[in-house]
Amino acid sequence: METRNIVVLTGAGISAESGLATFRGPDGLWEGHRVEDVCTPQAFARNRALVQRFYDERRARLAEVEPNAAHEALARLDSEWRGELLIVTQNVDDLHERAGARRLLHMHGELKSAWCIACGIRTRWEASLGDGPDCPGCGKAATLRPDIVWFGEMPYGMERIDAALARADLFVSIGTSGAVYPAAGFVQSARHYGARTLELNLERSEGSAYFQETRLGAAGTLVPDWVGEMLG
Ligand code: OAD
Repeated sequence: METRNIVVLTGAGISAESGLATFRGPDGLWEGHRVEDVCTPQAFARNRALVQRFYDERRARLAEVEPNAAHEALARLDSEWRGELLIVTQNVDDLHERAGARRLLHMHGELKSAWCIACGIRTRWEASLGDGPDCPGCGKAATLRPDIVWFGEMPYGMERIDAALARADLFVSIGTSGAVYPAAGFVQSARHYGARTLELNLERSEGSAYFQETRLGAAGTLVPDWVGEMLG
């Protein structure tokens, strides 16, 4: 069957070779924290300073890392693929766009965006939030939070993602453990809609059983190879 429309889902594994830690490493900690202690609205209400500091460190870290061969290969696919393409990333880093990807959706938010809990505006943000800066929208102090989708919050772009999955001929998942819904369910939606499914991951994931094909290895090798196949 001819492939025209593609949906790619990426997770922390695609940024691992750039030097960013994945969430569910062998020690079960993310940068020394349990995910629930920093990735929930309750954590933010309980210990705002800790959560702001945590994300301030992650945002600052972006200046020290570069996109890797996997991000670059997807950016090449984006610029050369004539059919529809949507790269849905669970990652809050900016490595896809820095590599040049444009048809990109950050379903879990972005480190470089801040969200005002007083007036609701979202604004590009490169600096720290922990020192309680004024909101550029309403002028109030210390009302900006990281624009990150925490556990219990609704991911961004779900309608657009579902529409893309419904039109997809091919769904490809890269570097994600398949542990967090709704992203973990995209493979089943894609199959339901009739797409072929391919997983590229370092090891078998919780979702591997749902994919028609799984290739095991590092994203920095597997993704350029796969993009090369697609672009012929
Ligand atoms: P995980 O840390 O759960 O999974 C990363 C996956 O990448 C694992 O299956 C690894 O085996 C694989 N991996 C590691 N290095 C790799 C490499 N070099 N090449 C290919 N694969 C590699 O990260 P996610 O699945 O992205 O949510 O986690 C999903 C969500 O959980 C995140 O978006 C985050 C977290 O809570 C929010 O922050 C809202």
